This record gives sequence, C-alpha cells and structure tokens, in this order.
Amino acid sequence: SSNSVFTKQSVISQYLPASVKPITDTIEPVFAPSNIALCKYWGKREAELNLPVNSSLSISLAHLGSKTAISVAEEDQVWLNGIRLLAEDKFSRKVIAFIDLFRRADEHCVKVETANNIPTAAGLASSASGFAALMLAVDRFYGLDLDLKVLSAFARMGSGSASRSLYEGFVEWQMGVREDGMDSFALPLDSRWADLRIGLVKVSTGEKAVDSRSGMNRTVDTAHLYQSWPLQAAADLQRLHQAITDQNFTLLGETAEQNALSMHATMIASWPPLLYWQPDSVAAMQSIWQARAEGIELYFTMDAGPNIKLLFTADAEAAVKQRFPDLEIVAPFG
Ligand code: DP6
Repeated sequence: SSNSVFTKQSVISQYLPASVKPITDTIEPVFAPSNIALCKYWGKREAELNLPVNSSLSISLAHLGSKTAISVAEEDQVWLNGIRLLAEDKFSRKVIAFIDLFRRADEHCVKVETANNIPTAAGLASSASGFAALMLAVDRFYGLDLDLKVLSAFARMGSGSASRSLYEGFVEWQMGVREDGMDSFALPLDSRWADLRIGLVKVSTGEKAVDSRSGMNRTVDTAHLYQSWPLQAAADLQRLHQAITDQNFTLLGETAEQNALSMHATMIASWPPLLYWQPDSVAAMQSIWQARAEGIELYFTMDAGPNIKLLFTADAEAAVKQRFPDLEIVAPFG
C-alpha cells in the first residue's frame, strides 16, 4: 500500500525525454555486482517508491553479479541463464514491469537476457545485481545517459538493495527525506580495503519461504521490537564509517555481525514469527564464535535466508578455509 502522492512512473517521467525509443537494435550485456550489506536495509517507510526506514552500507562482490542485454524483438521475452521464461513467470513479469516504467510498450517489444554468475551453491539473492544490471541496460538501450545517482534511485524502485549494486567496493545508500524519493540513492565510498575477504557459506540453496520484501513488511507491521531498529542502524552506520576510515577490522566485523543479528531479532519478534535460520546456520555461527575464542578474527553477516557470509582478512584465510572447506571466497577489492 502506498501513502505517496507520487507513482514510480510520475517520478521517472520527469527525467525522461519526450519520447523514449531504442537507439540501437541490441546492446552488449551490461554487468552489475551483487552486494552484501554490513548495515542492513530492513523496513520501508513508503511502499510505492520503495523508500527505506534507514540508510544502509554494503560491499559489492566484485565479479559476482548479473549481466543483462536488451534487444528489439517481435514480442516481449525474458531469458534467464540461457532459458526463456514463461510470460507469467514472476521474475519475467517483474522485469517487463520495470521496463514499462520507461518505454512506450505499444511502440516496440524487447528481449531481455540476464545471466547470473553468482554461484548457486552460495545461495545468494540476485535481485540486487539483477535490477542494477537491468537499469544500466535500459539506460544504454534507450540512450538515456542518466546520472548514476538517478539510475541508483530508479534501480531502488525495482529492489532496494539494487540501488547499491551500481558500484564496486563500499557503498552507502542514503535513506533521503524527499517525498519523491530522489535523494534516496546510493553512492560509493572512496575507501578501499585490499585484504578484506568475504566467504560465502552454503547452508541451503532452496527458494525461501518468505522473500525479503514480505519479511520486512511483516516485521514493520507486527514486531514491537522493530522500534529499536532505526537507532541500531544509525549507530552501526557511524561505527562502520569509523571502521572503514581507520581500517579497523575488529570494529567492522563486530558491527556487521551485531547489525545482522539485531535485524534477525526483529524478524523473530514478528508474527507469524520469521526465523530464516536452519540448524546448519546455527552450527556455522557456533563454529565462528569458537574460532574467535581461539583468536581468529572471523565474523559473519546474514540476510533474509539461512546462508552465512563470513568476514575476515587475507591473513586469516588459511585458518578460515580449514573450518569451512567448501567456502567460496571473494576479494572485493581484487
Ligand atoms: C536483508 O532489496 O530484496 O538483504 O526492496 O523489497 O526488493 P526490496 O527488498 P530487498 O531487501 C534486502 C534486505 C536484506 C538487507 C540488505 O540487503 O540491505
């Protein structure tokens, strides 16, 4: 439900030329990275424009993400990893609905081809990189040449976390205050952290029972505990900035882990309860805490699913691999 006087289309149309037409028959695939939030986005203050309750901060996963191409076609069609989806497929409908925010559908049809190289084994969501790559592809296909801030704000309307997937490295999505949401976009931080590592622990790859969107709406609507979330997020954002500026890994890890567990606490306090954890998620947490007790600087974060994402630095890699042999390791800064 919406409480805004704006619609996505009314906001977007302000930034478009009078007529939006493909400037080419086809474009080369455009890439956008997946990202993992260290300070999570959890809860919307406005549903139509997809405006968040809090600002968030993420790290992009370098070469892991989505590649999307668009071509002119006889009829609308969406392909995922080389397979044509049915028109009524959920993902396919979301993609076409997003394109409809920009084009005149009666003038041409499109073929959208998306490929994710996010290892399915990692059980990572692809909506962030998917909508970011789609936004970049739309910009190129129609020759819009929009500012990255504007593209980020538009990608946000597809999926909140997609606003952050337009950039590499550390990225902050400012919640903004404007009613049209055009100050709610992400920007990259200029700090790098060469030896930072992210480890993807596979717990389950199955489709989740409750997606992030429904999960956060349920939390906002039913959990009294959610009242404390905006304060937690604001404090954690400050701590993360400090940690990144000082290259203080302990502060980064502690903050990210506490932030993720605080978010999960609000989910558990919802009704019906939302517990994404599986026994193997808890086993992984205990193994991480055990490692820390033994002096290894290893932390984790988790999104709306059972999988665990490890945070560590290059010097701990051997010790971490020993505990998590099937780990997919990402070096976000190459
Ligand atoms: C737990 O961006 O998937 O991963 O805006 O409704 O599409 P919508 O939600 P989405 O939510 C992501 C939630 C999260 C935390 C985060 O990535 O910040």
